[in-house]
Amino acid sequence: MDIRKMLQEQDQLQVLRFESELTPEEKQNLYSQLENVDFRMIRDAMQSADKKMADEIGPADTLTIAMQEADKETYLQAGNEALKQGKMAAVILAGGQGSRLGHDGPKGTVNVGITRDKYLFEILLENVRRNTDPLHTVMHVYIMTSDINHESTVSFFEEHDYFGYPKDHLHFFRQDMAPALDLQGKLLLETKSGVSLAPNGNGGWFRSLQRQGLVDQMKSFGVEWLDVVSVDSVLQNIGDPLYLGAALVKGMYCGAKVVSKVTPEEKVGASCIRNGHPSIVEYSELSDEMRYAKNPDGTYQYQYGAIVNYLFNIRETEKRAGESMPVHKAIKKISCLDESGAPVVPAEPNAIKMEYFIFDILEFFDSCLFMECIREDEFAPIKNASGVDSLESARKLYTARFGDIL
Ligand code: UD1
Repeated sequence: MDIRKMLQEQDQLQVLRFESELTPEEKQNLYSQLENVDFRMIRDAMQSADKKMADEIGPADTLTIAMQEADKETYLQAGNEALKQGKMAAVILAGGQGSRLGHDGPKGTVNVGITRDKYLFEILLENVRRNTDPLHTVMHVYIMTSDINHESTVSFFEEHDYFGYPKDHLHFFRQDMAPALDLQGKLLLETKSGVSLAPNGNGGWFRSLQRQGLVDQMKSFGVEWLDVVSVDSVLQNIGDPLYLGAALVKGMYCGAKVVSKVTPEEKVGASCIRNGHPSIVEYSELSDEMRYAKNPDGTYQYQYGAIVNYLFNIRETEKRAGESMPVHKAIKKISCLDESGAPVVPAEPNAIKMEYFIFDILEFFDSCLFMECIREDEFAPIKNASGVDSLESARKLYTARFGDIL
């Protein structure tokens, strides 16, 4: 690939500013980084306006707990049958940086135990087994890491002997990275031989799996469905037969577990219908108008929030994987080099961080199973060092749920 020509076409030649000072090895490093830069993501980020909060948005139908009751046995039977046949695999999204928590290391390595060691990754694998052990089956689990935490994640599992999980059913894959841009959309250099990169958000998981040949691998194992979950909830119900069964019985190709929000301000993405398609509006992008919109009976129109437990039919997701996804931008302070090559530690936000969000994939489908779950049974996220959604609150919820003193 002619790197210089490619950069010229993209109007990004500035990243070669220090090329003449680099050793051949450093040059190679820079070139291979540049070959992997997703220029389509940059174009989409700079050209498209942020997603509109316009009037094409309306409330979505939810399969509430009460509605599930009547068909529970049918769903369970269908789900358990599919699980027994190995038709579902799990994807744990563990490529985030967990910066809010302040834990030094991958988030899944947080020790949730008090009287003994009990790690988040260990708990998630146990949660898988709660669903599969009674069926005498083993689920394939794919753990998404990033360039930043891949080695430390894999060595953590090795050191702990994979927590007794069959090693041939545990797979690790790296998500793609996205470059940081200056406010004009130009790539930033972290060093003279390296662009500034960060994980590209939790929405890149399917393309990363595809690029690494893992979707084909899953299919060769007979897997048809993926339960895609965040790493950070100790009550994450992974491989839930009720969920899979409900999707199968209702003929849905994707699903999102939701909880009834405690307050309209709770930091969870709100499920809705956008332009006729299932969608989720992230809490950080939710307008007050939508947040506080009420039904005639006084209940909130957008009462349900996503807990990051998504269901995807592989074949149907593959059909849609080439579609362009919206890029979510955040303006951040990112250390970089200035034009003279001197390091800059910015006092003010100076850069654009780009991310894909997983729930934007739902909009490629005509319908989605928004399935309510009981908060105390399935949602105990660890986001902050203390207070709401913290290690402390998650420990209490875990003990209440499983009767297990940590
Ligand atoms: C997330 C959801 C939000 C939901 C809430 C529930 C997204 C974009 N947001 O918000 O809708 O209501 O959880 O608690 O899904 N991750 C990666 N790679 C990345 C970035 C994130 O694997 O590049 C993973 C994280 O490790 C985590 C999950 O995605 O497992 C959620 O990401 P996080 O940034 O923690 O999202 P929240 O703001 O908590």
